[in-house]
Amino acid sequence: MQTLTVGLADRSYPIHIGNGLLGRADLLLPHLPHKRVAIVTNTMVAPLYLEPLSSMLQYHGVDVLPIILPDGEEYKNAATLGLIYDALLSSRCERNTPLIALGGGVIGDMTGYAAATYLRGVPFIQIPTTLLAQVDSSVGGKTGINHPLGKNMIGAFYQPQAVLADIATLNTLPDQELRAGIAEVIKYGLIRDLPFFEWLEQNMEKLLARDAQALQYAIARSCRNKAEVVGADERESGERALLNLGHTFGHAIETGMGYGVWLHGEGVAAGTIMAAELSRRLGWISAQDVARTRHLFERAGLPVAGPALGVEKYLQLMGLDKKVLGGKMRFVLLKAIGHAVVSGDVPEDLLRQTLEACCKNV
Ligand code: NAD
Ligand code: GLY
Repeated sequence: MQTLTVGLADRSYPIHIGNGLLGRADLLLPHLPHKRVAIVTNTMVAPLYLEPLSSMLQYHGVDVLPIILPDGEEYKNAATLGLIYDALLSSRCERNTPLIALGGGVIGDMTGYAAATYLRGVPFIQIPTTLLAQVDSSVGGKTGINHPLGKNMIGAFYQPQAVLADIATLNTLPDQELRAGIAEVIKYGLIRDLPFFEWLEQNMEKLLARDAQALQYAIARSCRNKAEVVGADERESGERALLNLGHTFGHAIETGMGYGVWLHGEGVAAGTIMAAELSRRLGWISAQDVARTRHLFERAGLPVAGPALGVEKYLQLMGLDKKVLGGKMRFVLLKAIGHAVVSGDVPEDLLRQTLEACCKNV
């Protein structure tokens, strides 16, 4: 097992990464001093991992309240969030009852937001079970839900007490979900870690084959990158925005297609190629850099073009991005592979050309 730290002074917390962590009472019990916990999960993950986790905790005298939500991005909304509050209130959970998020990014984001708001804040622990959640969403304290008009528009910054990434849980993950997680892994290489990008070029097949050592390495390196960024800029006043490479386009795809039609990682993959292509049109990176980036996403089996929503629809959806400042869109773009920047100076004609070039009929 490797343990990294997200350094946030008195709110610092560990990220444990390894095989079989779901059975490790020693990692969880220190966070459950009152011997009561609510485990929030969904109908897909519950049959796989709820019972072993609950039994282990119950064996150690912990009273477990399971809260099982419907599965899917389309349920990451206020109505489903209400189900968590209903269960917590009906069971008279108090301020000292932590929540455990057991699942992918949807469960992690919603549970974190419930924890931030229930009784004005209760502790929570992330147990991410998708690659995407292990490398990205469980770390850094962005929590929230979608709004019909835009992705992740309602939420809070609220850090967990600990993150337990059990690599063994990835054995049951469908291939398409594994690939979606790889999109966020490639992101770290592109924005700030060229050697990691090169490592991914050499080891993509191992990741796709779920080689345990390769997964451990990629998850730890991704989390180290994320922990460094979050430690330096928790509330996204600067560098943290770089973690949104590809997301302005990607969120527009997810919202425009209807939540759950494109996976988040798939939207990020196509969106990253659009960001690379826009960077090339600005004269910042070469056509060769774009081709190299596209090739890595293609090898991961990820989409490298967006759906043909129409340029006007993209522009309208991207206008609701959280990075918009003073009505002006801002983009995460590449100065080189391994070096991203945020820019608000994008001529509209280049943006329109990029959207036309990078979207195809679905
Ligand atoms: P997800 O949570 O929908 O999980 C994907 C699918 O895999 C679901 O059907 C889920 O039930 C299933 N699943 C989970 N673990 C499994 C396992 N071990 N075996 C088999 N099936 C399993 O999607 P995701 O890709 O994990 O997360 C995407 C969400 O994360 C999006 O809503 C996105 O906005 C959010 N996100 C948040 C942050 C952040 O910083 N908070 C960062 C990136 C993404
Ligand atoms: N996934 C983007 C962030 O955590 O800032």
